[in-house]
Amino acid sequence: MKADMSFKDYAEYYDLIYKDKDYEKEVDFLEEIFETFYKPKKILEVGCGTGNYTRILLERGYEVTALDISEDMVKIAREKCACKFIKGDIRDVSINDEFDACIAMFTVIGYITKNSDLIKALNNIHRYLEPNGVFVFDVWNGLAVMSILPEQRMKEVENDKIKIIRVAVPNLRAFDHICEVNYKLLILNKEENTFNEINEKHVVRFYFPQEIKYYLENAGFEVLRIGPFLDLNGKVDENVWNIVVIARAVGKKV
Ligand SMILES: C[S@@+](CC[C@H](N)C(=O)[O-])C[C@H]1O[C@@H](n2cnc3c(N)ncnc32)[C@H](O)[C@@H]1O
Repeated sequence: MKADMSFKDYAEYYDLIYKDKDYEKEVDFLEEIFETFYKPKKILEVGCGTGNYTRILLERGYEVTALDISEDMVKIAREKCACKFIKGDIRDVSINDEFDACIAMFTVIGYITKNSDLIKALNNIHRYLEPNGVFVFDVWNGLAVMSILPEQRMKEVENDKIKIIRVAVPNLRAFDHICEVNYKLLILNKEENTFNEINEKHVVRFYFPQEIKYYLENAGFEVLRIGPFLDLNGKVDENVWNIVVIARAVGKKV
């Protein structure tokens, strides 16, 4: 499946599905990272999705350029945020600007599944960062995925109008470092008493710490920290599913 199709039908329901995700707390974490390593003014947000990070970052005074491959996601983000949006693919997008920081939050880099595409994306991010600019992203930790193993999950959320039951069935492709997540969404329209079904496959790559370090260094980054997501001083091992990676652009621009 093409990356820009992953959120095709899902986009409309994304904010309801993740209504309990504490974006304010996650932006607090980002700011802790900025305070510790490098304080940016201008941020390139890769994979902005429906703009939940974007909105908070703008409220907190950052200048944000928000990029996403999915037109459907960007459309929703535009309604929430007044900033520059780019509908584009981080592997090959051309941006006539430079930034103090780049962020790719909530597994965006996991949607880049091929080695060659990761190299393209990292080189491109490096190109748009000022020297010493920081790149912060979170991914699934391969150590944990292979130790804990992905499981089928169910989630129910609702608002006044609809109720969503989402079933996520994983298919682990260990050799490729990939977990295909087959989402089935049952959407019950409470007013009309009808329901609709959506099926979407998200192909997500997990990354091993040493592997991500290798790719980053080859693209001209210095890795400053790989830690548990939301715990800047914690240690990564096979029990930590989500990891944050913090890197600094040091090498020559390619
Ligand atoms: C799980 S969502 C996260 C969205 C948002 N960052 C959030 O936290 O709500 C992943 C996002 O990455 C975007 N994405 C995936 N591959 C991309 C690529 N190659 N270039 C730009 N955006 C991409 C998807 O369209 C999707 O909006």
